[in-house]
Amino acid sequence: EKGGYEHFMLKEIFEQPKSIADCMRGRLNASTGHLVLGGIREYANKLEGAERIIMIACGTSWHAALVAEYIFEELCRIPVEVEYASEFRYRNPVINEGDVVVAISQSGETADTLAAMELAKSKGAIIFGVCNVVGSSIARVSHEGAYTHAGPEIGVASTKAFTAQLTVLTMIALRVAHRKGSITERKYHELLVELEQIPSKVEESLKLNDKVVEISDIFKEARNFLYLGRGYNFPVALEGALKLKEISYIHAEGYPAAEMKHGPIALIDEEMPVVFIATRDSSYDKIVSNIQEVKARKGRVIAIVTKGDVLIPKMADFVIEVPAAHEALMPMVAVIPLQLLSYHIAVMRGCNVDQPRNLAKSVTVE
Ligand code: M6R
Repeated sequence: EKGGYEHFMLKEIFEQPKSIADCMRGRLNASTGHLVLGGIREYANKLEGAERIIMIACGTSWHAALVAEYIFEELCRIPVEVEYASEFRYRNPVINEGDVVVAISQSGETADTLAAMELAKSKGAIIFGVCNVVGSSIARVSHEGAYTHAGPEIGVASTKAFTAQLTVLTMIALRVAHRKGSITERKYHELLVELEQIPSKVEESLKLNDKVVEISDIFKEARNFLYLGRGYNFPVALEGALKLKEISYIHAEGYPAAEMKHGPIALIDEEMPVVFIATRDSSYDKIVSNIQEVKARKGRVIAIVTKGDVLIPKMADFVIEVPAAHEALMPMVAVIPLQLLSYHIAVMRGCNVDQPRNLAKSVTVE
């Protein structure tokens, strides 16, 4: 059932071109401008008229929410708060009329997420669920929602669920933005086309596997890693670090690159691998400076860059070139080599990647 792969995690990483396409199937057609999420009907106007969106999730799903925050604010001009479910549920949060809650969960069974939703519901919020498991508790508690249709995810490390969550959340944001008129017709169509191309860009990124194996071999004994990104790629840095921690047991931290100078820069020396997610986007120049700051302190830089970048390869120790994509969609492409990096390092260290120690696939206790 691993389809010839050594582990479920690797199979699921390689399934992503298909799982992302499955997620869009019947929902999006760029050539006709069609974008419909069948599960969001009766309450669609609540979402479009929302004064604020509160996103609730844990772990990797929380990282997907962070990317979605940037997308919703940019496209829909609706303020978004991203909450750890475990914090939200215990702090007497302010929920106003006009607030809409979006709960994100692969399993649909995460205890904290479920409890946070129940709390929001008791205060009168309308809740949209973004789940992978059909008929799960979170799907049932939601007023409406959209499934990610990524297929069963068995590996404890979430991979294809993350990219499918981003696909669904982007589709929701585009639909809301289009109906509200907060983006131009032209931008709407451009993004539909870009989104439709993501599966083939992910396919191309998977071809980087051999290169990632080489880099993994060089860094497999590292004791620490830093992951840095800005803008849409900041949550990708968090996700890369989480993947490495959970399956290889190497300490890793993700940060917005500019926060480095507020503390973590003290950690940088010739022993410290720093993974930069430095694709061509609106924060490119800024991240180039951050790479220089790390190199000046002899850190070892592994940079994820856009294909054809000529500047960063001159500064970084290793570069991984991913295909160009719209910056809002780049997380789905840029995360691929990071998933592979954590996978190969874990395998090389002899770790049980599909069932890492102390972890369960769904966290049904708080
Ligand atoms: O099923 P959920 O998406 O609600 O799970 C949330 C987290 O437990 C999950 O993403 C966890 O962080 C993963 N092991 C990360 O790979």
